[in-house]
Amino acid sequence: ETIVPIPGPPPLPLIGNLRDIDLNNTIQSFERLAETYGPIFKLYLGGSERVFITNHELANEVLSRKDFVKKITGATEHLAKVMPEGILTATHGQESWGLTRRTLNPVFTRGAVKEMFPEMLDIASQLVLKWARFGPDEEFDVQEEFTRLSMDTIALCAMGTRFNSFYRENQAEFVQRFGDIFNEVQRRSNRPEWYTSMMWEANRLLDENIQFVRDFCGELVAERRANPAEKKNTIFDAMVNRRDPVSGKELSSSTITDNMITFLFAGHDTTSGLLSFVLAHLIMNPEAYAKLQEEVDRVLGDGAITPDHLNELHYTRACLRETLRLEPPSPGLVLMPLAEPHERVVIGGKYVIQGGQTTVVLIPTLHRDPDSFGPDANEFKPERMLEENFKKLPKNAFKPFGNGQRSCIGNEFATQQAMMVTAILFQKFDFEFVDPGYELQYQPSIHRKAKDLYIQARLRPGVD
Ligand code: HEM
Repeated sequence: ETIVPIPGPPPLPLIGNLRDIDLNNTIQSFERLAETYGPIFKLYLGGSERVFITNHELANEVLSRKDFVKKITGATEHLAKVMPEGILTATHGQESWGLTRRTLNPVFTRGAVKEMFPEMLDIASQLVLKWARFGPDEEFDVQEEFTRLSMDTIALCAMGTRFNSFYRENQAEFVQRFGDIFNEVQRRSNRPEWYTSMMWEANRLLDENIQFVRDFCGELVAERRANPAEKKNTIFDAMVNRRDPVSGKELSSSTITDNMITFLFAGHDTTSGLLSFVLAHLIMNPEAYAKLQEEVDRVLGDGAITPDHLNELHYTRACLRETLRLEPPSPGLVLMPLAEPHERVVIGGKYVIQGGQTTVVLIPTLHRDPDSFGPDANEFKPERMLEENFKKLPKNAFKPFGNGQRSCIGNEFATQQAMMVTAILFQKFDFEFVDPGYELQYQPSIHRKAKDLYIQARLRPGVD
């Protein structure tokens, strides 16, 4: 076989490729490097070499191979310290992962999440009421509004509590501290360890915030265990009441706490990003906007939405898929080959990766590969995501919810929520950008979120 070196910008001593990326916009930096170096390139960051895979052909290979598994490193390694038994940050083979997934998979199926439709609608109705009351002149930061919505929804479904974010000027203490934890964790993942160890004040604050959040969750679990009467089919009840069908074990209180934090973290920015970007893309594409509104009017009329309506909202579903394609909320899948560090693994027939080496599948470029989506891959065209076309996409061309056994447990939960919220918003309102020339910008965060996206919402004629 002919081995070819993996290209990449030359690293400097000590700092590696730090100067080749913008720390406020790492994903966009990687996208730009893909334009220069092609479908595979490497960077030295944080003291080690990372390989990036950016096209469909190579991504399809590593996502199909059984010897590539999820790797916990960088920001996720720091996250794992906050929630050691949480399923998102569990290492490959960690026992608590299997136990928890087997226990909770049944409550996350498309059929089972229908049971949480009333909780989702309850929170969505609060948002609609707020937007209607503020009226057409109010300028909403939609990313922030949808963060309130998705936070409150997970809190109700996975923690059995209400944050009531739409009724507060300032965030509740829990939400504030929760956000501070993840901001600090992200800063740490870009800082050398020795530097972090000297930041006593930041470290003390982080420990204090983690303790607060864990105590808050722990009390909710203890309360529910003491009062099991009020039983519903929510994620929270499943965690407290179900047992692993294989081992017969139940989840410990601390494992439940870890997964409450996990669901809140994994479920809120992702869903709120999707909702913000679908609104933005629809405003930018008046034809798609009109088609979606026509579908919503035809299916819902002026009546109340039910779970069954969602099966008929084909164009709405396609718009959400197309948004997940262009703006994947989780922009990277981090993998490694299962081999020993000194062993060499060959991909694409010619590139060598060492066992355990960080291998990132870059989702925004995978999702815009013209080989999968044609020459108009950069355009918002929901038609390509209608079921009959969607089914024909190449394997592993569309991966917004991750891969294989470590794929998103919340896929159907998020989809149901996003479908319902999009449908009722377009049933009730017409939308415009505050700045008619708005172009998409991203916040510097782990998940892809819209920056400075302000819109106005006007009640449609006849809606009260
Ligand atoms: C995992 C995306 C919503 C809970 C993942 C992964 C992706 C993803 C890409 C794989 C991560 C990796 O390989 O490292 C999304 C998107 C969402 C969304 C795009 C919304 C549009 C949710 C919601 C929840 C959730 C609402 C919880 C209710 C999780 C959990 C995992 C996960 C627990 C880890 C699963 C495991 O490793 O077994 N998600 N997610 N997600 N997601 Fe989601």
